[in-house]
Amino acid sequence: MKFLIINGPNINMRGKCEPDIYGAKTYEDLVDFVKEACENEQVEAEFFQSNHEGAIVDRIQEAYGVFDGIVINPAAYTHTSIAILDALKAVALPAVEVHISNVKDREDFRRVSYAGMACVKTFMGLGFEGYAEAVRYLKWYINNVSSTH
Ligand code: DQA
Repeated sequence: MKFLIINGPNINMRGKCEPDIYGAKTYEDLVDFVKEACENEQVEAEFFQSNHEGAIVDRIQEAYGVFDGIVINPAAYTHTSIAILDALKAVALPAVEVHISNVKDREDFRRVSYAGMACVKTFMGLGFEGYAEAVRYLKWYINNVSSTH
């Protein structure tokens, strides 16, 4: 089983700014952490981070026929991007949404998630652990839900 792990804008700045919201660990720490979570689940993983909406759309499109599922933290594009929502719908791969912080407890504009509308589950407010939960859930979902449809 092969997952694409997508992180959106400013996730590459983790550990360098807003540690009160996102913690002190870096994007490199995040990749190491998620790699280990994937290894524990015998899942192959590829990582992609971009600050550009179109690049994220391109990467989602390229995932079609290559990956079994997507774990995505679209970051600020969560709340604005119909293009990312449409790309997820277009490839129709099972996807799980992750947010490091609890977006529901923050500004009102973070309450809408367009990408989340194309995801089978969302984990938020769990820090990096949310990505590990997402990997485990996605594996379970592919084995138990999407395979029976
Ligand atoms: C985020 C939450 C978003 O609202 C914010 O724009 C981010 C990070 C999170 O992981 O908590 O950049 O997706």
